[in-house]
Amino acid sequence: MEESEGLPRRAADGLTRRALLVGIGAAGGAGAMYAAMGVLGLAPSETTTPVPATGGASAPTPYVPPQRSDFALRGGRPATVLVLGAGVAGLACAYELGKAGYHCTVLEARDGIGGRSLTLRGGDTLSELAANPAQQAVSGLDGRPAAGGASAAAPTAPGALGETQRVGFGAGTYFNAGPARIAQWMVTLDYCRELGVPLEVFVNTNASAYLLTEGMRRPVRVRTARADAYGYISELLAKATDAGALDARLTQADKEGLLDFLSHFGDIGPEHEYTGGERRGFRVDPGVRPGADLGTPPPLTRLLSERLGRVLTMDAGYDQAMPMFQPVGGMDAIVRALAARVGEGRVRTGARVTRIMNRPDGVEVTIEGAGVLRADYCVATLPPHVMARISGNLGADVVAALATPVPMSAGKLGLEYRRRWWEIEDRIYGGATETDLDIGHIWYPSYGFHGERGLVVGYYNTAVDAQTYDDLPHARRLRQALAQGAKVHGPAYAKGILASVSIAWRRQPHIEGAWVSWPSRNGFSLLQRPAGRVYFAGDWLTQLIAWQAGAFESARKVVTELHHRVLKEA
Ligand code: ALA
Repeated sequence: MEESEGLPRRAADGLTRRALLVGIGAAGGAGAMYAAMGVLGLAPSETTTPVPATGGASAPTPYVPPQRSDFALRGGRPATVLVLGAGVAGLACAYELGKAGYHCTVLEARDGIGGRSLTLRGGDTLSELAANPAQQAVSGLDGRPAAGGASAAAPTAPGALGETQRVGFGAGTYFNAGPARIAQWMVTLDYCRELGVPLEVFVNTNASAYLLTEGMRRPVRVRTARADAYGYISELLAKATDAGALDARLTQADKEGLLDFLSHFGDIGPEHEYTGGERRGFRVDPGVRPGADLGTPPPLTRLLSERLGRVLTMDAGYDQAMPMFQPVGGMDAIVRALAARVGEGRVRTGARVTRIMNRPDGVEVTIEGAGVLRADYCVATLPPHVMARISGNLGADVVAALATPVPMSAGKLGLEYRRRWWEIEDRIYGGATETDLDIGHIWYPSYGFHGERGLVVGYYNTAVDAQTYDDLPHARRLRQALAQGAKVHGPAYAKGILASVSIAWRRQPHIEGAWVSWPSRNGFSLLQRPAGRVYFAGDWLTQLIAWQAGAFESARKVVTELHHRVLKEA
């Protein structure tokens, strides 16, 4: 996707950028967005904060959880709330409302909690939809196929299951099939602290991992490519400075400062030539003897033809910078901790919602085969494209808004190896090999170092790359990914695999997408407001699409608004 006003754009790491609110400085972060929402009347005015004058991060809007004592001060009683969806947004809503004594029931269509926060272990099963919903019609509230729906092309009933994979990983091996990394500034870490979820570092970038682009003859270690890129760029800029090409722009003092910077940045010598050096790494590492170097760098023209820009800057994004973190033992530790606080009895799995009705004094939610539940309010956290198909009386504008964001494809493959060859032979301890092949990234595990087995993510791809895997059965995804990975690691890459499992998020029942992309702002603002007594929450309503942090931030916003309403109406 290309960037244009209001559209998500392709980020440096090849993922869709989460900047959605046009004109609200992305650099201002959640504080700026929330302040702007306050101006628009979308957020409680007492929580608005000034937009920071600079591009630096400001403290996020202080969040004050609802408390039981709020009712003692203001009167009234905690309401009953039906929360649709037991992913991060839904569980966070129920957890936060529960702090003030709200009676929440969380309804989840899948057999387990967590939604996309899915960690797979030995003994788990993973079913996919028989047909890719991308080929299916999208029905409106009235049940008619939406315009442009491709119902005629879909031979399989929507919702019918296809292949089921049985996860054969050994004890201790886990695979974060959905979210896997948390940035330091994200509210997710605050929840880990509050919930007592232990953390460890997620190695998001590793100088010893490889880069491989189609322009390259062979994979190159990140450190080598970085040294050459920085070196040659510095040489060019230094020589341009020496030749006076920048005189119109720079004072003599500026030029001296620039040359000093470049000498460090590019490791260029006094003649401003880049000739390589030990930043590139070694053929034989130094020990008692000096290391054997890698030889002279490739010529500049080759480096430029390799198109390294994207893969070399993957970790430059605000949301991708090291250090990043993961819960010890699997990402689902967060949703399990939330569910435990909500109370097991309050989360009903296997409960598919088929109808949502606003009534003057409450909401009615119909569950397939299990009748109608009533409550004072509803918080709907289902994926918008799934929600748009649920019948009810939310209103045509709301349904059109729900149907606006486009579900995106992403896929991952977990490979359990008999031995940790990437540590033993390649000396790679965590991190990622970045490619522009259809596998996207190869991830090396950030846990279990020096253990016997290990879990490599054989692909993590998005958008069109993911679509090429979406419609393949697991065996063919595996074969294709191993052939691609062998371009990085050689033929041994396909050997010693004990078990594997792959996920195409577009084909996950009741989820049908890795995340969404808003093609226009239409609907985004509308869904920030409740439709009658039904509120909407999820990462898809924030600047942090495809992050658990988005789900948490959205949950906090909705909980705050709902609580204020209940207090006001008391
Ligand atoms: N948040 C997702 C990632 O980090 C998209 O890959």
